[in-house]
Order: sequence, then C-alpha cells, then structure tokens
Amino acid sequence: MDRIFSGIQPSGEIHIGNYVGAIRNWVQLTERYDCIYSVVDYHAITIEYEMELMQKRILETATILVACGLTPDKCIVFVQSHVPEHTELAWVFNSVTPIGELERMTQFKEKSKQHRQNINMGLLGYPVLQAADILIYKAGYVPVGEDQTQHVELSREIARKFNTRYGETFPEPKVLLSTAPRIAGTDGQAKMSKSMNNAIGLLEAPEVIREKLRSAATCPHRERRSDPGHPEHCNIFTMHQAFSKPDEISGVEQGCRTAGIGCIECKEILYKNMVEELGPIQARVKEMNARPEYIVDVLKSGAAHCKAIASEVMDEVRRKIGVKSEWL
Ligand code: TYM
Repeated sequence: MDRIFSGIQPSGEIHIGNYVGAIRNWVQLTERYDCIYSVVDYHAITIEYEMELMQKRILETATILVACGLTPDKCIVFVQSHVPEHTELAWVFNSVTPIGELERMTQFKEKSKQHRQNINMGLLGYPVLQAADILIYKAGYVPVGEDQTQHVELSREIARKFNTRYGETFPEPKVLLSTAPRIAGTDGQAKMSKSMNNAIGLLEAPEVIREKLRSAATCPHRERRSDPGHPEHCNIFTMHQAFSKPDEISGVEQGCRTAGIGCIECKEILYKNMVEELGPIQARVKEMNARPEYIVDVLKSGAAHCKAIASEVMDEVRRKIGVKSEWL
C-alpha cells in the first residue's frame, strides 16, 4: 500500500478550515493508504508561543484527530518530537536545500512580516523540516490544504536534489487536495487561520458557531435582501459545499441567485448542517478527555511504530552520505 504522511501544528484551536481542508480527507484516505499523521510540535516553536500551554495543546490536537476518526485501528497518530530522526534528517536536507528557494516561500514571507522582531532560522528552514517529516517515511502522498502545496513542491525538489547527489533514495511526494482546499475566514477575505481571529473552532459551542456565522461576510455584491447573489463570491456558499448535502447545496445556490432566499436563512441551513457534523466529534472529544491515558497510549504506540521505520531510513541516509561508522 502507498504511504501517506501529513501533519498539523498544535498552535491553538483547530478550526473548520483544518477540518474540511485536511483532517476529514485524512480519515477517508485511511481506507486506501498506509497513513501516518503527526502533531508537529517542532514546527510550532518557530514563532512566539506559550511554553506552559504546549503540552496541553499537543494532547488536545491529538485528541481531536482521533475524535475525527483517525483511530489506531485505521492509522498512526504520533507527536513529531517523539521521533528525533525528523530533525536529524532535516539537518542533512539543509545541505541540499538552496536558501533562495526557502526565501521565496509565501508562508516565510508572510510570517516574516507578522514576526518582524523574530525572523529566525527555524522560520526559514520550516519547509526543510516538513520535507524531512514526509521523507523519513518515504511517503508518496501528502494530503494538505492549498496553503501547504508550495511546501510539498519544495519537498519534491529536496528529494530530487538528495537523490542526485547520493543516489536514488526518496520518492518525490505528491500533493493530495481535499474538495475544500481553501476556506476563507468569517471576514470572507483572508484564509481561515488560528492567528487571524477569523476562525470557527471545531470545538466551539453551537450558539458561538451560530453567532459567528450570523456576523460572517457573505457575497459582497448582495446589499439588499432583494438583490440576486453570486454564490461563487460567497464564503458561506463555500462552507455549504463543505458541510451540506448536494440537494441543499443546489437549493441555496438557486435561491441565492434568484433572491429566493436571504443570507440569514442560508446561514441557518449551514449552521444546522455544521453543528450536525461537529456534534459527534465534540462528544467523542469529551469522552476521551475523561480518560486521558487513552490518548497517551495512542501516541506512545504511534511513536514506537514510527521510530522503527524512521531509524531504518536514517541509517540508510547516514550510510549514503558517508557518516555511518563501520568501525564503531
Ligand atoms: P497547519 O497546522 O497550518 O494546518 C493543518 C492542515 O490544515 C490545512 N488548512 C486549511 N485548509 C483549508 N482552508 C484553510 N483555511 C486551512 N487552514 C489550514 C493546512 O493546509 C494543513 O494541511 N506546515 C503544516 C504542517 C506540517 C506538514 C508536514 C503537513 C508539518 N510537516 C508534513 C504535511 C506534511 C502546517 O502548518 O499545517
């Protein structure tokens, strides 16, 4: 079976963009692939963060992944720092990665603007660690949202450069996009993001979700209830496509274009469908929070499984680059 790798940062509350852009797709892919999913804590230290909250966030993130359906019978879930081969391989990859490629990464440019006082090596080398995450398992496919495609493209180049210099070792991993690869925030403009204050959290209470949807941006061309709308310009419609059933999607599309339904009604239908899908996930999170040893066990056995693969691949790398001592 082909292998899949993907990761998520434990940097705050997981939102519906993460869910429909990545996690829900990760669950479906477990049926056809050998899947490894990681909570990538070493990526999360490249910007300012609250150290005392890190452990809590790692566990919360892992709990959400399992509650969404990434259970141990279907795939592996583990924490990146529990398998130090990731960072070791990243160091080796540093030596085949051109700085110019890293400097032109959109995320690096954006984060450098947001964190002017702390533009560090980790921020620049972030995609190198991401390439190591994927390639330490020789994964061929990487399911991510649209914002991560550039990084996966760079992992392909890193694999190519390594293979050219040291001999065929790594596959060139391909991106797998979900059906909702980019969800904008409630402002209707920027990508929904933990750092932009425009996110709907996966664990938020129904009344909070309803309120956020109520005030969320809609089609900018529809000023009055009687104006026909343009669903293709409306982020609420994008969310409908991610959460509603096909007949309801075509119903709201038609209703919006003909001014048959108003934005309030359209948002109510979305709210109902969103809460219906998130409710069972929230209930499973509650159940797991009541017995935290369960998630700790999942992560321990996940790390043991990954360590076995990663140490073999790292051994091969050490041999190929000439640092493995045969005489010690
Ligand atoms: P992160 O933690 O920012 O996001 C996790 C996943 O959610 C997707 N995503 C979105 N999809 C649609 N709409 C949105 N608004 C939205 N926001 C986030 C992301 O594309 C991602 O798939 N660098 C990665 C983590 C990572 C990784 C890896 C991924 C580290 N190593 C190796 C794949 C392979 C990140 O910061 O994701």
